[in-house]
Amino acid sequence: MLVSFKSLLDGAEKGGYAVPAFNVYNMETVMGVIAAAEESRSPVILQTYSRLLDNEEGYYVAPVILAAAKRATVPVCYHLDHGASEKEVQRALRLGATGIMIDRSLYDFDENVEYTRRVVEACSYLDVGVEGEIGHVGVAANGDEKTIAYTTVDEAVEFVSRTGVCALAVAVGTAHGRYKQAPKLAIDRIAEIHKATKAAVVLHGGSGVPDEQIKDAVKAGIRKINFGTDLCYSFIDEIFETSRDKIAVDVFMKGPIESVKRFATSKMELLSAVGKA
Ligand code: 13P
Repeated sequence: MLVSFKSLLDGAEKGGYAVPAFNVYNMETVMGVIAAAEESRSPVILQTYSRLLDNEEGYYVAPVILAAAKRATVPVCYHLDHGASEKEVQRALRLGATGIMIDRSLYDFDENVEYTRRVVEACSYLDVGVEGEIGHVGVAANGDEKTIAYTTVDEAVEFVSRTGVCALAVAVGTAHGRYKQAPKLAIDRIAEIHKATKAAVVLHGGSGVPDEQIKDAVKAGIRKINFGTDLCYSFIDEIFETSRDKIAVDVFMKGPIESVKRFATSKMELLSAVGKA
C-alpha cells in the first residue's frame, strides 16, 4: 500500500529500526525491491534522484513505482531524493510522491533554512513530509567522508525547529558512491542528534558501509538509510552475467531482478526492518 513518508518514519522510531530507502531507476529495479519487501514483510521507501524529474525518466518511472506501491501488501513510500529545487519538488508531487527531500546543503545555513522552510510549508498543504540536509554529504570518490565536517547537534536542532522538516540527512562520516576505504561513522554524534531532535535522522551513502557500523548507527537512532550505488551494481553485474541467448527482454531481466531482490533483502535484515510491515 502507498503510505506517507512520515508514517514510515514514525513506525521506525517506535520500533527502533531504520526504514530501507532504495534509489530505483526502472521497472526492474522497482520489481526487485518490492519482491524483497513483500517476502520480508518490510516497510520500504522507493526513491528517485532529482535528475530523473529533470528529464523524461520520471514520467515513466513514477507511475511504475505508484502501481507497485498500491499493489503491494506492505507499506511503501514514493520519495523524491535530493530534490534540487522547487521545480523538481512540484513535479514529484504532481507525479504522486508521498515524501519529499529538498537538498540545499551546498548553500549557506540561513539560505538552506529559508528555502527548506518554504518547501515544508508548501508540502504541508498536501500533508507530505519533508527531509532536509545539513552538513553536506559529499562524494566517496573525492574522499569527502573524511574531510567534510560532521553536522553539529546545535545546527540540527536549529534547522529542524526553523524549517519543520520531519527527517534530517546528516554528515556523520558517509559519502555517496564507492568508498576507497571503509568509512568510519560518528556513532556518538548520531546518538546526540537523535536525542536532541524530533526529526528522523537519515543516513545517506549506505553502500559500502560495513554491516557492524550500520547496526550501530541504527542502535544510535538512524531511522532511514539510503542505498543507491550497491543496488545498481547488484543489477548491472547480473546483467553482465546473463546469457545473450536470452533474447526476450522480460526473460533476460529475470536474473537482474532477482539479484536486486537479494540485495534489498540483505539490507532489510541489516536494518532490522524485517517483519515490521
Ligand atoms: P549510495 O549510492 O552511496 O548508496 O548513496 C545513496 C544515497 O544516499 C542516495 O541519496
